[in-house]
Amino acid sequence: MKLKRAEKTEDGTSITLDWEDGFQSRFHAQWLRYNSLDPETRSQHNGQRLISLLDIPQDIFLEEEEIQLDGSLRLVFSHDGHETLFPGKWLREHVYDQSEIREKGWCDEAITLWDGQFEASSNLIPYSKISSEPQSQAAWLRMVRDYGFALTEGVPLHNGAVTELVKLFGFVRETEYGRWFEVRSEANPINLAYTNQGLQGHTDNPYRDPVPTLQLLACLENEAEGGESILIDGFKIVQILKEEDPEAFRLLSEYCARFEFTGKNGVFLKSKRPVIELKPDGELACVRFNNRSTAPLTDVPYEKVQEYFCAYRRLMEMVENPEFQVRFRLNPGALLILDNTRVLHARSWTSPNKIGPELMQATRFFHQ
Ligand code: FE2
Repeated sequence: MKLKRAEKTEDGTSITLDWEDGFQSRFHAQWLRYNSLDPETRSQHNGQRLISLLDIPQDIFLEEEEIQLDGSLRLVFSHDGHETLFPGKWLREHVYDQSEIREKGWCDEAITLWDGQFEASSNLIPYSKISSEPQSQAAWLRMVRDYGFALTEGVPLHNGAVTELVKLFGFVRETEYGRWFEVRSEANPINLAYTNQGLQGHTDNPYRDPVPTLQLLACLENEAEGGESILIDGFKIVQILKEEDPEAFRLLSEYCARFEFTGKNGVFLKSKRPVIELKPDGELACVRFNNRSTAPLTDVPYEKVQEYFCAYRRLMEMVENPEFQVRFRLNPGALLILDNTRVLHARSWTSPNKIGPELMQATRFFHQ
């Protein structure tokens, strides 16, 4: 979109810009000088800033403004007469003059919320494409960004293949579980995750801080009868909770919960974070939900505890409601990647007494 008009305002300490589509926004002279893109301000080699805010007079103002023929904006600043050019497109992409105040719990426009009606197979791209075509890999990762999960099939059936897939676009963050670990169904499990009983939907490792962001699960064997994977969009159920009961949403987002895990060899992990985490501007950042590792609540005032439990119960009811659950079967060679800050996962078996061999290998990493 092209710039149409530029006019100094507030004695040159700001500028008002009009675009051809009728959009208008203001920018401060100080902001523009600090974010200038010219070689004196930013390294042309790596884009890093070469000046500090202290190099810019606090009372800086604009001496001149002019829209060039190519649609860029030429500015001349006070004090040292510094001259710079801003592409109109860059300015439009960095507009901050917005009066709209968003409600707490808002989601990025790029993401799509879903429920049990969503067809998981529409988020599947074969491994042969992901591993050989950059555009297919980008499309697959975009699904993870937009929906919080994606599937692939045709992954090699050997130990640790799950980590090889990660190498295509990231790196594994090693934990005390190792670079990858096995999730199998066992008759007498030491960990509930290894049973053939259905597990309640949950996010993994909420006791870790930061929480692992992306998680991959590769299926090597699946003879278990039923043996379905279940996904729940945590952001979707949180939005519904917010609409139905704003106070419940407030309690789960403003008070911290505690999560703990005791592992082998003296491992003890704990975190203090809310079930619904928001960024300072209210954007929904993370859902932590794991009944098994929720530690005693000690950060909610006595008077609010009953209400907090009501809110937590309501969220748990939604987690267990099939209306919000997407179900599919992972067959050998299938792989699931999910955003563990958003999507809850679970498994179910239709015949709990019939244990078939089942083996998944999983790995986790932090995408930030
Ligand atoms: Fe899990």
